[in-house]
Amino acid sequence: MNITFDSAKRIFRLETENTSYVMAVAGEEGYLGHAYWGPRTGEDDLTYLLRTEEYPFRPLRDNRDGVAFLSTFHKEFAGCGAGDFRESSVRLTGEDGASVSRFLYRGYRILRGKPALEGLPATFGGEEECMTLEIELKDADSDVFAVLSYSVFRDSDVIARSVKIRNGTGKRLWLDRALSLTVDMEDDGYRMLAMSGAWAREHIAGFRDIAPGKQSVSSLRGVTSSEAQPFLALAEKDADQEKGRVYGFVLVYSGNFLAQVEKNQFDSLRVSLGIHPDNFRWLLEPGDVFQAPEALCVCSASGLGGMSRSFHDVIREHLIRSPWKDRERPILINNWEATYFDFDTEKLLAIAREAKKSGIEMLVMDDGWFGRRYDDNTSLGDWTVNEEKLGTSLKELADGVNAIGLKFGIWIEPEAVSPDSDLFREHPDWAVAVPGRVPTRSRNQYVLDITRKEAADRVYGRIAEVLKSASISYVKWDMNRYLTDLYSSSLPAERMGELSHRYVLALYEMQERFVRDFPHVLLENCSSGGARFDPGMLYYSPQIWCSDDTDAVERLAIQEGTALVYPLGCMGAHVSDCPNHYTGRTVPFETRGHVALAGTFGYELDITRIPQEDRDLIPGQTAAYHRYNALVRSGDYYRVASYAENGAYDCWEVVSKDRSEALVTWVQVKARPYHKARVMRIPGLDPDAAYRVEGMEGTFAGRTLAEAGIPMPAFQEDCRSALIYIVKA
Ligand code: DGJ
Repeated sequence: MNITFDSAKRIFRLETENTSYVMAVAGEEGYLGHAYWGPRTGEDDLTYLLRTEEYPFRPLRDNRDGVAFLSTFHKEFAGCGAGDFRESSVRLTGEDGASVSRFLYRGYRILRGKPALEGLPATFGGEEECMTLEIELKDADSDVFAVLSYSVFRDSDVIARSVKIRNGTGKRLWLDRALSLTVDMEDDGYRMLAMSGAWAREHIAGFRDIAPGKQSVSSLRGVTSSEAQPFLALAEKDADQEKGRVYGFVLVYSGNFLAQVEKNQFDSLRVSLGIHPDNFRWLLEPGDVFQAPEALCVCSASGLGGMSRSFHDVIREHLIRSPWKDRERPILINNWEATYFDFDTEKLLAIAREAKKSGIEMLVMDDGWFGRRYDDNTSLGDWTVNEEKLGTSLKELADGVNAIGLKFGIWIEPEAVSPDSDLFREHPDWAVAVPGRVPTRSRNQYVLDITRKEAADRVYGRIAEVLKSASISYVKWDMNRYLTDLYSSSLPAERMGELSHRYVLALYEMQERFVRDFPHVLLENCSSGGARFDPGMLYYSPQIWCSDDTDAVERLAIQEGTALVYPLGCMGAHVSDCPNHYTGRTVPFETRGHVALAGTFGYELDITRIPQEDRDLIPGQTAAYHRYNALVRSGDYYRVASYAENGAYDCWEVVSKDRSEALVTWVQVKARPYHKARVMRIPGLDPDAAYRVEGMEGTFAGRTLAEAGIPMPAFQEDCRSALIYIVKA
């Protein structure tokens, strides 16, 4: 890693292990131009790529053709309203109603390490691990400043970017948009890769062509949402898992976002990523600073797999803070699909007793233990234990579970309030709702206005009391509705446009408080499954529930999409009962186990009631978890074959960092009659080393496994699977 500035030529160079990112100050006025980003180049002067001698890229000299220049020049930060008609990085409106800005270079500083982003989750690293470049820009005609921040890491090709806007004008300004990055580049025939989905169908990856105009994915739901991910990638047309150039972008944020590619009249692309400008308006008093969230971007010359592995590494090493990150998590059994709301202490202890026999290590009591929560119509906000329902105190339950030899965890939903709750009856104005309008209910609940400190404090305080009252090792923090009826009685009208972002900031503050107060508690975030599976939340919890859909076949595409960006060790994945509650499908218990082993691993079923032959398989599965989890959690992930693409089979591999061992998971979703075994090429191993492959005689060179491959088991049955362990001879 390195960052340099050539002061004579005014060129900034960021170097990661395999890539270069080059910017230069262009023209007499000083536009910050984007010259190059891609595989490592020589240390040559790349300013010719700015094309500043070529019309229309020639900077303004006589102001004769400013629009031609501003609308075509590849710049690092795009002002607004002056002639660049593409998506602008920022839009500032003054008291006079005008929204024009044009940002020019002012100065820079290079530092070792990386400053934190105030109030926001962000990557971190010590002085030896990363370097940061801050470039200050100033609006040509006012005292508005933008500081662009770029960090590079010793052990990754990821570049972390963010933007800070400061109002130095002495007057009030409204920030109508503040994206975290815009990147201008040539269109070398890329396709856009993004994720779409729905509840129970999260994170489904798909390509789309890039046409002139704009194509985007976004959320305006107040949380990341199950419909989209704050991620997009540009992949060369022939790029695949292991070859071709791919640019990946992901936002470290958990609210409304826009991820967009725009192609202009000169076939240039502008990638934009940041807080969605809709529902966003931030008042900047004189002297105020606005910090936009961080975006992570990476250029991979080794296909989508290279991009994913870079994201995994940086998220593992520089974003997840939890002490659990590098530790085996206790194998849990969660009672949601086992009992839904119908449980008491006796039932839970029966599950715990049976679970203990099979090597399960923690019991999690899901929704339904508080207030009068016998179904999902009531009591959110009333965080007192329902001892009448449980038949015991929480302490007695937790002690009982501990006495059996299991740890104990609970579910919470701090950001919600039921209309039928004491909290709502006491403080109806603490719900996010517009006075005089009937707010929309969703799951018969409202969002609690946690931007009101007193509301956040009350709920947090009550939950903290519960957590302190018993031996609790794990918390599942859920959030089960989107934000509508945006209004907070704590904000003046002119600041109402700040609510969505303030909500996310308040959530981060609450989670920060939680991890500070309960550092020993393993936190798992969740939002109706994976609706808030994003890098922002991983700053607080080392794992996130991936999807309510626990069907092992459905999970293949869900987990494949999730693993495009996120390390396997943070994907919540459980074995559930069949017929599956969401699809009605029956998949062999063994296959359900193999698929869940690609994530955090656990169970979501009534172990006292599942068939004995399934129960008998659990000790083997828990043993497999202990055997392979360190590898799954810390290794390099390779997507070998995709059921989502081929409709018949799925295969992935995790290779240890030192390439001494690997685990291949094979799932034959559809059996083929009268046919031969499929051969999979196994990448990522040391080409010159000899390996033993479980189930095969002799040894094989890494290059043989990568080039010739090995046959996968051919089952005469649908939905069968196998784990194949490979180890250096
Ligand atoms: C949604 C979650 O995704 C489920 O796992 C479960 O916790 C329910 N909420 C409980 O209401």
